Formats: sequence, C-alpha cells, structure tokens
Amino acid sequence: MQTIKKRVADAILSGVDSINPDHGLTAAEVAGLLEYPPDSNMGDLAFPCFRLSKVLRRSPVQIAQTLAGIVKDRAIGATSAVNGYLNFTVSNEYLESDVVPEILQKGEDYGKQTFGKGKKVVLDYSSPNVAKPFHIGHLGTTVIGHSIRKLHEFAGYDCFGINYLGDWGTQFGKLILAFRLWSNREEVEEGGIDKLVSLYVRINNEIKGDPEQGIAPRDDLADAARAEFHKLETGDEENLALWRWFVDISLKEYEKTYKQLGITFDSYLGESFYTDKMPAQIEKLRQMGLLKIDDGASIVDLSDYNMPPCLILKRDGSTLYPTRDIAAAVYRKENYHFDKAVYVTSAQQSLHFAQWFKVVELMGYPWYNELVHVPYGTVSLGGEKLATRTGNVVLLRDLFERAIEKVREIRREKGQIAENDDEIAEAVGVGAIVFYYLSNNRMKDINFTMDEALNFDGNTGPYVQYTYARACSVLAKAGGNDGKTIRITCEEEAALVKTLCRFGERVCNAIDDYEPSIVTRFILDVAAAFNRFYHNCPIHTADDPAVRASRLNLTAAAKTVLGNAFDLICLRRTEKV
Ligand code: ARG
Repeated sequence: MQTIKKRVADAILSGVDSINPDHGLTAAEVAGLLEYPPDSNMGDLAFPCFRLSKVLRRSPVQIAQTLAGIVKDRAIGATSAVNGYLNFTVSNEYLESDVVPEILQKGEDYGKQTFGKGKKVVLDYSSPNVAKPFHIGHLGTTVIGHSIRKLHEFAGYDCFGINYLGDWGTQFGKLILAFRLWSNREEVEEGGIDKLVSLYVRINNEIKGDPEQGIAPRDDLADAARAEFHKLETGDEENLALWRWFVDISLKEYEKTYKQLGITFDSYLGESFYTDKMPAQIEKLRQMGLLKIDDGASIVDLSDYNMPPCLILKRDGSTLYPTRDIAAAVYRKENYHFDKAVYVTSAQQSLHFAQWFKVVELMGYPWYNELVHVPYGTVSLGGEKLATRTGNVVLLRDLFERAIEKVREIRREKGQIAENDDEIAEAVGVGAIVFYYLSNNRMKDINFTMDEALNFDGNTGPYVQYTYARACSVLAKAGGNDGKTIRITCEEEAALVKTLCRFGERVCNAIDDYEPSIVTRFILDVAAAFNRFYHNCPIHTADDPAVRASRLNLTAAAKTVLGNAFDLICLRRTEKV
C-alpha cells in the first residue's frame, strides 16, 4: 500500500533531483521528514527544507519557494512555501480516485502491510500463575500482548502466541497440602478456581500467622508444603494428578476471559514444561565459566553491565525464574525458529528480562538480539469499589462482569433494547475496559475509573463502538452502497478520507513502538471525523443521487477502516446496538 507520505515524498524527491541530483536523500528519508501540521489551515502535510540547505547550498526559504513551483503530483492539491517549510494539501482527486476505491476494494485487507512476510514472531503474553487469581494486573499483558500479536499478523508476520502458564513452583505444594487438610473433590469441583484461591490464601495466612493478634506462624505447614512440592517434583503420581487437575480448573476459568476478549493461544506450554530443559543450559553456563558461587547460590555476575547478578540456582540447588526463561528461549528458538521473540510483562520485570537477555548473549547465542521485552505501567482502581473474594486484588472476571452490568443499566436508562442485548452488553462492557486501558501510552501508570471508561459521550470504547454501529445502520437503511460513485463535495468528506488514509502508517508506527495506543488514538480520530461528516452532511436526504451514493461509499469506507482497526485491539465490531 502506498501511503500518502510515500507518494508525496516521491514527488518531492524528483523536484529536488531537478535542482541538484547529488542530494544523497532517499524517498524513505524524505517520507520520514514529512510532518502532519497541527493546524490543517497550514496544509495536510509539511516538508521542512532545513536539512536540504547544506547540500543544495541555498537557504531553506529559497528551497521551499523553488520546490513549491516544481513539485507536482496527482495527490497534491496546492503547495505553498512558508518559512522554510513546503506545505501541501492533498488533492480531492487523489482521495476520490485512489484512497476510497482502495479501501472499498481491499475491505478487510485495507491497511495490511507486507514487511513481515516470511518472518516468524513468537509472543509470550498473559501467562497467569495458575491457582492464583487472574487479576486486573494481567489486563495489560493480555490485551497489549494480543494487540501486538494482531498488529504483527496484519503486517504479514507468522505469529505464534504462547501462554507461558506459571504452572510450577512451591505454591503447588501449598495448594496440595491445603486441599488435603481443608477440602475435598466435591467442594473444589463445585467452587472451581475460587475455591483454589481461597485455599491458597488460607494456607499462606496460616503459614505467616499474625503476630499482632497473637497467632504464631506455622512453620510445620511450610515444611509440609515443601515436602508435597518435593513429592510432586519427583513424580509422585497422586500429587501429579492433583496438580494436573488444579491446572485444568484454572485454565477453564481463564478461557472464559479469553473468550470474552476473542483471544486464543497457539501454545499453553507453561513453566513446568521446561523443568527437564534447564540442566543442559546450566551445564553450558558452567562449562563456559559463567557461573559463580555466591553464598552457596549459583549466579552470573553482571556487574560489568551495571546490573545485579542473575540468579541461576538457589543454595538448595533449585532453579529460578531466570533459569526457566533461558531454557524456554533456547527451546523456542530451536523449535519455532523465531526471527523475533516478544515478551509482554509489567515494567516491574524489566530488570529480570534485561538480566537474562544478557546471560543469553554471554552464552554466545547469536539470536540474543532477537529477544524483545515490552513493558507496561501499573494499574490501580479508583472511584469504584469492586467486591473481591480475595481481599485486595480485583479479578479481571469481576471487572468485566461489573462493566457489562453497567452497560446494561445505561442501555436500560436510554431505552435501548435489542434482540441480542446480552451480546451487545458484553461486547460494549468488555470493549470499554479494553479501550480505556489501551488509550494510554503503555508505560503510563493507569488509575482505572469505571465511569470514565463507560462514558458513552467521552473518548471511549462505547463511543467508538456506537459510531461503528451508526455507520452500519446508515448502510443497512440504504440497502448498501454501490462501491463506485465517489465525489468529495465538502470539507467534512475530505477530512474523513484524509484521516482514513493514514491507517497503514499508523499500523507501522504501532508495530515499531509496540504501542497499541497508536491504533486506539487513530480510531478516535476516525470516529470524530466520521461523526462530523455524519452530522453535517445529509446522506439519505442528499438532493443529488450521486452525492447520496458517494456519501454511502464514504460511510462504507469509514466502517471498513474502523472495523479493521477494532480487530487490532481486541475490540468487538458492533453491527447493531
Ligand atoms: N507468570 C509470570 C507472572 O505472572 C509472567 C510470565 C512472563 N513470561 C516470561 N517468559 N517470563 O508474573
């Protein structure tokens, strides 16, 4: 797809060529210099001529003036030179004959890129810790991770999504013990993950005790839990069966949330899978002389790289989180042959990733620079109090439920009823949370406010989903669009199409920065431009049948671009509301 920037860049370059062919600039560099002026009165695109000044040995002002007279293209409407900038407007002809026809013709494929073709990306995201609650903190890794996956797919990459379940560790010893002490099969079958979580919370509390209340810590329980985990590690059949059962129960629960988000994974190979893959890497580290013994533990010293040491083995010889990640990365490289491995976790784990990435490099694996960590900020919850089973964490499931319920209320108040009310409430409720979350730059710490997320008149999920539904209903009422007649007759129409044609570029930016919020902001731009067009330009009642037909095509184009963009950020398309 040719973006407007590339097209204008080509035209500028031939202009510059005619002044002095020895300028050494490429079309991509020129495109990179092009800016969208903040005020559209200054044009749709601006080219700063300062960098050319040296090679062309003229002032930027002179260059802009000369170029204004010679840069020509069908996509360019008017040019003007202002203070060393060459300003362009995009021609209506280009919008009519290139942009809209391309959108209508490509449909679902509009905006797709090809630069990922033939390359493989594995993405490690969501990855909850089994039998611990799947809480609001997991929203980030889940929806940012999935959006990054969708974006890469859209660019042609072959993507492989891994849910690296935290399905191994001492917590299973605790859970097995707690289950035997205080529960039974029926209760857990009945209570599902909630029951597991409450057992887990109880055993942790008892182990800790509460000295202030005069309740002594229970070291005996801690020892017994360790013993159960040891049995699990050494293949005790009964414990293994319980463990498998606990993992299954947890997965079933997560699946409900994934289904609401439209997320699927290609692999659920969790931490447990890598248990027998670690010794080979530990041995390699030892042979390479990278392991140091520090107070009985085995570490890789990273002081040369200004980082604390990476812990490989505890004093008792047990492995650690980094050990497993190193083994998993080697396995993934050998089995999935990735060109890039992306890990999405909270920024609190940034040091962990920096450390083990460095260890992989020191181990001489040539693919160390194909590992990418994508961090994000923290989430807290303001305003609204959510009831939780487990005290201070908010479960993702409860957050979604609450949002869905609120959407139902709002719709009831507005008198909106549809046959598929439940479906709409779920799409809009879940969508509100996802959109609100992804509206911010991922590194920003977010304070979650339900009312803000659900404000139908704000820059929210409900607002853009209703905009999408509006476009659908305009088309349904007219019995569709002809796909042919396109005439730009007013400023609102031009502004809408100019917004739409930036989609491909936004997709590229979002991939470069691993930043789904670029897509979210683009969706808001499209929604604003479409609503302005919708309110100011009569569609069904347009006098001229050609104008009516054209406006229906513009509506279809807006619907297509919105829908394609929704898919990239886990936002469901709402045909009807
Ligand atoms: N299970 C971990 C957690 O909840 C996240 C795993 C991230 N992925 C990884 N390869 N370390 O904190």
